[in-house]
Formats: sequence, structure tokens, C-alpha cells
Amino acid sequence: MSDKTMSKEDYLNKAKDLGSAEAPKQLDTTDFFTIAEERRSVRQYDPSHKMEESEIRELLETAIQAPSSSNLQPWRFLVIQDQAAKEELLPIAFNQQQIVDASIVVAILGDTDAYKKAGEIYGNLVEMGRMPKDMADTYINSIHQTYGGFTDEKRKNVAMIDGGLVAMQLMLAAKAKGLDTVPMGGFKEDEFKATFNIPEGVEPVMLLSVGKGAKAGFDKNRLPLDDVLQWDKY
Ligand SMILES: Cc1cc2nc3c(=O)[nH]c(=O)nc-3n(C[C@H](O)[C@H](O)[C@H](O)COP(=O)(O)O)c2cc1C
Repeated sequence: MSDKTMSKEDYLNKAKDLGSAEAPKQLDTTDFFTIAEERRSVRQYDPSHKMEESEIRELLETAIQAPSSSNLQPWRFLVIQDQAAKEELLPIAFNQQQIVDASIVVAILGDTDAYKKAGEIYGNLVEMGRMPKDMADTYINSIHQTYGGFTDEKRKNVAMIDGGLVAMQLMLAAKAKGLDTVPMGGFKEDEFKATFNIPEGVEPVMLLSVGKGAKAGFDKNRLPLDDVLQWDKY
């Protein structure tokens, strides 16, 4: 193995030139297994493709059906669709071209204070007649005690896990709608927070470009299942 390395920007930008030159395969199905198999990270987009607000909302409505710890739904979304805002984001995300070419960038964020909405979430269940009030109150108190007692790091971890789940569901929903995505952890978090006015306690999980893919991503390349699988005890 050589000891060559490259800058983070080169590393992130080289990937888009690899893989097939063909456009992503157009699927005529929403079969779950096909969607899961065919979703891949797409880094080249048709910059003329625009998404309607209703279409974006529909994807997010599907995404938020994801599970979350104590159903606290700590995900928050910042949809960046304005071209000038995308241009501002570009250098913060190491000039990854998909930031400006995809129709939108969804910043998936995690609210580390999401537990404070437990009253609203469990109160809804009471109003809908699906949980007795005293049970909801007990849940709410326990959630405040548990999450309120967590360290900041632990609360951030929870938000990151739930943010990952919602991001995955968003990527699959987009694919099922004939759109492509790429998740991105390659961006300068502090600059992102400052530039996009991210409030205190809200942490970026990842950025997600969504749009009409112009060039397919890599073919699937995975470690064999048996390299990553243990049974019963590690
Ligand atoms: C949390 C996370 C961060 C990622 N960050 C980047 C990124 O900044 N830029 C990029 O081009 N791809 C990024 N990727 C995409 C991965 O490179 C890609 O998922 C992986 O190579 C597998 O390929 P596939 O998504 O096509 O199956 C990221 C993926 C994840 C899950």
C-alpha cells in the first residue's frame, strides 16, 4: 500500500468522477427491495431540475415516519433551495458540486433538547384517546428525568442516531419518487452553524443533496456479509 493521501476537498470531489457515466437507472417500481438495492450516492445532478414545495413536503412527511428514541423526534430540517444560499454553502462543504447542482440540500439537524417536547407528544396521545392521562404524565416525567439527566454528549448521540434514521428514510423515499441523493458529512460544522443561523442545542447530523441524478453513483461495493456478521456473542 502506498502512503499517498490527498486533501479533504480532493478526496470528497474525486468520487464524483468515478463510476458509470450513465444516468441513474430509471425504476418503474417502488418495490422496497429494488429501492434499497438501487439507491446509491449520486454526486452529479441536472441543475435545471426543480422540486415543488409539495414534493419536498411529501418526502419529509415520509421521512418523519422513522422511529426515534422515546418517539421524541429530535430531527429538524433546514431545506436549502435558494441558489444563492447553496452557493454560500458550497465552500463550507468543501466545494462538493452536488451542493449547487442538486435541486435542494436538506440539512438534517438534531435537537438535543427535543425531550422538552415530550408534553406535547404524549399529550397528543391523550387527546386522541390512545393513552390515559396519568400514564402520559408518568411518561413525560420519566423522560424529563432521564433525558434531562443525560450529559450533553449523550443527548447529542441520541439526536445523531435518530437523525441517521430519518435521513435513511428520506433517501429511500426520494429514490422511490425517482430522485437521487447523497448524504454528506464533509462540511465545516461550525461555519455551517454560524452561516445558517443554527440555534444553540441544534446539531447538524448530515447534509443531503436531493435531485435528478445525471450520472449514476458507484456500483455497490460492500464487505461480504459474513465479514460483518456474528451470531449470539461477538
Ligand atoms: C454519514 C455519511 C457521510 C457521508 N459524507 C459524504 C460526503 O461528504 N461526500 C460524499 O461525496 N459522499 C459522502 N457519503 C457517501 C458515502 O461515500 C457512500 O454512502 C458510500 O460510499 C456507499 O455508497 P452508496 O451510498 O452509493 O451505497 C457519506 C455517507 C454517509 C452515510
